[in-house]
Amino acid sequence: MTDRYAVIGNPIAHSKSPLIHSAFAAQTSQDISYERILAPLDGFAEVAQSLAEQGYQGVNVTVPFKFDAFNFCDFKTPQAMRAGAVNTLKFTNHGVYGTNTDGDGLVRDIRHNLGVDIEGKRILLLGAGGAAEGVLQPLLAQLPAALVVANRTLDKAEKMVRKCKAGEVQVATCAYTELPETYFDIVINATSTGLSETALPIPAVYAAHCLAYEMMYGRDTLFMQHARAAGASVADGLGMLVEQAAEAFFYWRGVRPATQAVMDMLRAQ
Ligand code: ATR
Repeated sequence: MTDRYAVIGNPIAHSKSPLIHSAFAAQTSQDISYERILAPLDGFAEVAQSLAEQGYQGVNVTVPFKFDAFNFCDFKTPQAMRAGAVNTLKFTNHGVYGTNTDGDGLVRDIRHNLGVDIEGKRILLLGAGGAAEGVLQPLLAQLPAALVVANRTLDKAEKMVRKCKAGEVQVATCAYTELPETYFDIVINATSTGLSETALPIPAVYAAHCLAYEMMYGRDTLFMQHARAAGASVADGLGMLVEQAAEAFFYWRGVRPATQAVMDMLRAQ
């Protein structure tokens, strides 16, 4: 019997997850179906519960439900606990399991697909919302030399940094206007400014050979345009999208799909 999966979000019509998971399934000969499901803004738990009762094996969870999904699970992986949010649920006879594959997806895209080491590098993380929080701890686990979180609302950055486990890594917070120029090796935009085409008021923070990574995908944002003009190499979040999906597929099916062909397919569209 075909195993059923879905992605729940609001909005959801734009989601590329069905395409990605269908490609993974074809490549690994897994018999699954995968749908998009729109949940009302206050109705995540009801929709997830109903899917579990209908025999779905699992769901991906996207904006704005990753915190609802965190509260919905019975058991959480360390990745979910560190992020404080869940993007993948697995329904089993003994309860709902939740994990978060976003951070590992970003790290894998930067290291394996873009060929950039994080260890020993100076990292700037722009933003302190859910997207930033989801990737902060996985970035620290790669042992960068230093990581600075900058955010419009500085308190939020400070709160996020106070909660994280920095270990040996120097972690600091900073206002946008106080950032040092030409200092960072990797700059990650985890703000939602790409959606509104707002420019972040940051100086030219990019060191030579800097990677500027936009976590959004599908458009050349102002962040990408400014970083490119300042001489940085630029990447969008399409690789992260595919890598986080591959981690979710592995979590459900125990099989790791190859990602390059799927990224090429999406880029060609
Ligand atoms: P997400 O889950 O996508 O991270 P979020 O939790 O609403 O969404 O966080 C959005 C992030 O984008 C925050 O860091 C936010 O800054 P504030 O914490 O100061 O609100 C940032 N952001 C959104 N619009 C912005 C703007 N016009 N200028 C600067 N930062 C912006």
